[in-house]
Amino acid sequence: NKVTVVGAGNVGATTAQRIHQLGYADVVMVDVVEDLPQGKSLDMLESGPVIGTDALITGSNGYEESANSDVVVITAGIARRPGMSRDDLLLTNMRITTSVTEQVVRHSPNCIIIPVTNPLDAMVQNIYESSGFPRERVFGMAGVLDTARFRTFISQELNVSVEDVQAYVLGGHGDDMVPLVRYTTVGGIPISELMAEEKVEQLVRRTRQGGGEIVQLLKEGSAYYAPSAAITQMVEAVLLDKKRILPACAYLQGEYGINGLCVGVPVKLGAGGMEQVIEIRLTAEEQAALQGSAASVQELVEVMNQ
Ligand code: NAI
Repeated sequence: NKVTVVGAGNVGATTAQRIHQLGYADVVMVDVVEDLPQGKSLDMLESGPVIGTDALITGSNGYEESANSDVVVITAGIARRPGMSRDDLLLTNMRITTSVTEQVVRHSPNCIIIPVTNPLDAMVQNIYESSGFPRERVFGMAGVLDTARFRTFISQELNVSVEDVQAYVLGGHGDDMVPLVRYTTVGGIPISELMAEEKVEQLVRRTRQGGGEIVQLLKEGSAYYAPSAAITQMVEAVLLDKKRILPACAYLQGEYGINGLCVGVPVKLGAGGMEQVIEIRLTAEEQAALQGSAASVQELVEVMNQ
């Protein structure tokens, strides 16, 4: 197996490190900054004897070394600084992801692309459209991260293992997310049995602002430890054909009443990529929130098309 990570910054390098450490795929890191991906990848390669992996990891400023990758993760672009919203990144990152996608498609025509660059939903739309790939092979990471944040806060509040907390977050990344509180359970027990509604609402608000909370603390740059863990889980689901049900940003063709837009929904991830969009019955309120999310993606798509 071969995985390429485009962008050797905080998210890209941490993701490459995690995938290399798993040991069942060779990893290539690509970045425009001279020597940066080469230096970081050599450093990671030299961790091999200690962590016990024979997987290779290399860095490059071009795409030849990435040829015929099975999975390509795109993290190239600029990240938020305090005071910026994800949408402020739109046009710069659109230009970057368009040129990256062109190279990726040329060198790895059969790969599965996982976009990560923000604003996530609009970038997935841009990468999906410019790749010309079927929708099964382009789906973005956001929901696994948003859900992980929600699960973390719930587990802290109830003092229970994070592993026992199951949750679903639909819709756009961050501010636009639609948490499915009805489907949020702790050890199989609905959250409504265990926590007051106001408390749940408070944790939902914190999850919505979860990325911003980290940006404020770091002062420079945005989150990358939890994002890279979320990406790695998606990559693993594909490489190991796990058929995992995870939230991802996928191109919808009528599901949830949305057509021709990339929005976060539960999907099945396996060797074929996004093998299925899982449709669950939503309440009127949830459906309206999802439509609202779709409308904000649509707005950004219109700005990109101008
Ligand atoms: P960073 O600034 O640390 O790294 C970005 C890297 O991209 C830099 O090394 C830069 O040289 C590289 N780059 C720029 N143009 C390039 C090009 N044309 N080709 C190849 N590489 C190029 O940023 P960080 O923290 O790694 O974040 C990356 C992106 O991921 C940001 O847009 C950020 O907002 C987004 N993000 C998305 C998340 C999600 O849930 N979807 C979570 C966290 C970050």
